[in-house]
Amino acid sequence: MATVPVELDRLFGRPNYLDQIAEPVQRAAQRLFASQGTTGLKIRDFLNGVWLGHPLHAAITDLPVGAFTTAIALDHLGLWAGDRRASRVADFLTAVGFGGALAAAIAGLADYSEIEAEQRRVGITHAMLNGLAVLAYTASLLRRARGQRGSAVALATLGYGLLLVSSDLGGRMVYHLGTLVNRQAWTQGPTEFTPVLAAASLPEGQIRSASAGGMSIFLARVNGQVYALGNVCTHWGCSLSEGHLEDTSVVCHCHGSRFDLSDGAVINGPASAPEISFDVRERDGQIEVRMRPY
Ligand code: FES
Repeated sequence: MATVPVELDRLFGRPNYLDQIAEPVQRAAQRLFASQGTTGLKIRDFLNGVWLGHPLHAAITDLPVGAFTTAIALDHLGLWAGDRRASRVADFLTAVGFGGALAAAIAGLADYSEIEAEQRRVGITHAMLNGLAVLAYTASLLRRARGQRGSAVALATLGYGLLLVSSDLGGRMVYHLGTLVNRQAWTQGPTEFTPVLAAASLPEGQIRSASAGGMSIFLARVNGQVYALGNVCTHWGCSLSEGHLEDTSVVCHCHGSRFDLSDGAVINGPASAPEISFDVRERDGQIEVRMRPY
């Protein structure tokens, strides 16, 4: 079967010159959220989808894509068949899509603030194409308000074309480049208690890494209790054992995701998927773990 001749994610993901735009924009996004202190962190967590279990951006994009798709069909029906009701509904849906596009952009910015390298270059291209689409739709809405139907529909058609290319890039960021997929989605761990470390090797307040049936795990002892989680951060794959403890949570050293030691729940993003957690017991001087259902 013939395949698409140019893989857009490879085309935009490799050129280093895109870093000149991608990195400053990312730093600005990080500063924006950090400048608001705890409130900024809460807003970013909300936008990252910590409460939802996956990035909010992916869910919101359905709104503008759906609204703009219906609107463009009705726009052309109204223009070429003279159906004025279709045109009025198209105006309404274009405005709905416009609002949805702005919401999706804000959520996307939160995700973009903590991604890396190739994905960041594709992400900035995705954002710029969407920015152009929003400009085209802004001009289209202004023309609609003035009753300039032909140019309004032409601009909306241009915006929709840009949106399609940009949506394809967004999909490739996830399906080809693995952006923000759960890094523990396929991990298998021991379902029976398995010894992983001598209990004496884990003093109070310390972190260790170990292997449980071939799976890398994170261990910590806090207030005398031993906790075990998967060691691969669900956000981007860094080792939690290189992070630090905060009360009964661990903070990933890469982008600051915080996981509850007791059950792996995400306390702060950018991770949105929980960490794998384990039942833990100490027997005959050994720490034993058993993976909980994930
Ligand atoms: S890898 Fe990004 S927060 Fe852990």
